[in-house]
Amino acid sequence: MKYIIIAAAAALILAVYLACENLLMLRIRRERLGSGVRIMHISDLHKRRFGKDNRRITAAVKAEKPDLIFLTGDIVSRNETNFDAAEKLIQELCAVSDVYFIYGNHEQSLITPDRAVRFAEMLSRTDVRLLRNSSISTEINGRHFSIYGLELPYSAYKKNGSYRHLDRITAKDVSYALGEAPQGEVLLLAHNPLFGREYAEWGADFTFSGHIHGGSVRMFGIGMLSPERTLFPRYSKGVYDFGGKKLLVSGGLGKLRAFNPPEIVIYEI
Ligand SMILES: [Fe+2]
Repeated sequence: MKYIIIAAAAALILAVYLACENLLMLRIRRERLGSGVRIMHISDLHKRRFGKDNRRITAAVKAEKPDLIFLTGDIVSRNETNFDAAEKLIQELCAVSDVYFIYGNHEQSLITPDRAVRFAEMLSRTDVRLLRNSSISTEINGRHFSIYGLELPYSAYKKNGSYRHLDRITAKDVSYALGEAPQGEVLLLAHNPLFGREYAEWGADFTFSGHIHGGSVRMFGIGMLSPERTLFPRYSKGVYDFGGKKLLVSGGLGKLRAFNPPEIVIYEI
């Protein structure tokens, strides 16, 4: 009987913790990789909301005063019918700083053509800088940056309705999509981190990714699940190094998670 009571108490504590993590928590992760430029990285909000009009996110971003804000995809889910919340969030962020946006696999596969058009129209009403296999050059605090946004072929996420035999991406594929990497500091926004080594090989000094949701369930710092229905994804959350070039993976904000609180990340580079 004693063991049943202990097990029930442990299950209750776990349930309360997971409810808090999935309903209340919002973590700000700080990564100092250099100095002079502050970048806020937001990813994979999906259907999750953080207060009315996501005020908890915008308040956190305003407090950090970033030089740049990167939204790296899946800000909406593919079956979303209403983009008002996304529009409000993006406009609020645009009032803080320059905001760069790439599509994730969910924006790439909004379930009707009508929704895809409405989503694109929504973005065009905002001041966001949309990068779809394109780039923008900018000057920040005396430094020149080339900012690229990569959109992978959907067959890298799902192919013929299946998660098996997905297309792999090489550095050459990145060159086909974006051209050769220029001289100077190159920042790449790429939703899918699984090709982080290839992005570095192409020439990205810093790649900003999401998609994996930190592995959904994390144990001992290891992400367990990938959206591709595989276990232990290679790059699930954190900073990864490829000969000095960095892959920066956000654990994201939305979807169900365990021991993996929703996060936005502030980098200093
Ligand atoms: Fe995704």
